[in-house]
Amino acid sequence: MVVYQVYPRSFQDSDGDGVGDLDGVTARLDHVAALGADAVWLSPFYPSPLADGGYDVADYRDVDPLFGTLADADALIAAAHERGLKVLFDVVPCHTSIEHPWFREHPDWYVWSDRDGPQNNWRATFGGPSWSRDEVSGRWYLHSFYPEQPDLDWRNPEVPRAFGEVLRFWLDRGVDGFRIDALDRLMKDPQLRDDPPASGPPPLPEAHMEGGLEQRNSRNAPDIGTAIAQLRAAAPDALLVGEVYLLSNRLQPYLEHLDACFCFELLHAPWRAEPVRAAIAAAAATGQAAWVLSNHDFPRLPDRVGPRNVRAAALLLLTLPGLAFVYQGDELGMADGPDEGHDRAGRDRHRHPMAWDASPNAGFTTGTPWLSVVAPADGPASEQRDGSMLDWYRSLIALRRELRGDLELLGGEPDVVAFRRGEHVVALNLGDAQAAAPAEAGEPLLATPGATARALPPGGAIVSPAT
Ligand code: NOJ
Repeated sequence: MVVYQVYPRSFQDSDGDGVGDLDGVTARLDHVAALGADAVWLSPFYPSPLADGGYDVADYRDVDPLFGTLADADALIAAAHERGLKVLFDVVPCHTSIEHPWFREHPDWYVWSDRDGPQNNWRATFGGPSWSRDEVSGRWYLHSFYPEQPDLDWRNPEVPRAFGEVLRFWLDRGVDGFRIDALDRLMKDPQLRDDPPASGPPPLPEAHMEGGLEQRNSRNAPDIGTAIAQLRAAAPDALLVGEVYLLSNRLQPYLEHLDACFCFELLHAPWRAEPVRAAIAAAAATGQAAWVLSNHDFPRLPDRVGPRNVRAAALLLLTLPGLAFVYQGDELGMADGPDEGHDRAGRDRHRHPMAWDASPNAGFTTGTPWLSVVAPADGPASEQRDGSMLDWYRSLIALRRELRGDLELLGGEPDVVAFRRGEHVVALNLGDAQAAAPAEAGEPLLATPGATARALPPGGAIVSPAT
């Protein structure tokens, strides 16, 4: 499957308030269907004070008026299904907004320090201690992310029970699955022991490392499988994709109950053949990889791999076996925009609105956009014709339907990543000099400009029948 990620705030505004909304998403579903995607995943649109772009949820079973109504959500699901698109919503079980009524009505559903201060040395993902003082009760609560996002206590059986109801609420409304947020943070050490000092760099990049700690106790508790099993029990037939910020070889307790987990090793791999090959091999070995190269948290492709390599990166993403996630705007070649001060962790850059057409604000809104519209190099969607980035993505997704078989990495030139998928060969050059394509590659079915069955220029990539 190809899953298209919609960041609702920046997709399409339907009412002129400058903020994208659910009716806007519905109005643009034809774009997603024409791309050839199989499903849409919507980042959160629930009632939220938006301290973390909606990942601070104040009510899991409603729609924020900024984004529309429950009826709009129903209409979106129906319209997606009419087009053959499955619908994934984004659920956030690790923490709520501090404004969620649960925080006052069920304080025992959260994690508290038993002293007048932080319980331990844990650090929050976006900086500072993981503990803050609740001004109302005077007690200190745990938050793995912003202080506005208190962590739920998944060791209290009431929490999985309540969360199961949340999943069933949306399943009853017709959603087909969920992207589940921050699962490695769901279960911590039951004794809340300190994290030890780090002996090396973190396995995946961290936003803040000022603590110099190895996050051994503050995440990924050994009994995490019990909580993941409870999520699965609430949604036995749904597609469940976990956001688990760990290396592929640590994902087994999660994958036992989920369909897939994002492969963050590939998303973060430096764009060189050896680390890219290693990330692919490690994730492919799980057999349950959800491949992803960008999302609303990390730099967009031109900024991460360099403009020269964007087409090859897309070709890689869309030829790997399993689930492939395309972040809105990547199909237009969008690059990062300026930081305009909404997200305290600096992620505005990756969240600029879609550029649809040549009208003011590129058709995103008739009002003042909440974040400025930044035109992609190939122009807005309506201007992208044969040979454009949008055309490249459509062609890749169409060809993806023909690819069968497991992934078998091929040897060859040091700067070339190449693999077989059954009857097809995929190859891309990540180096700075021209390199030979693998001997197994026949005349390309798809090739970046200048790439052939014999030679791959820097940034060149091909999909060929195997000879
Ligand atoms: C991952 C989400 O993608 C990110 O946007 C959010 O800040 C954290 N989880 C916390 O919910």
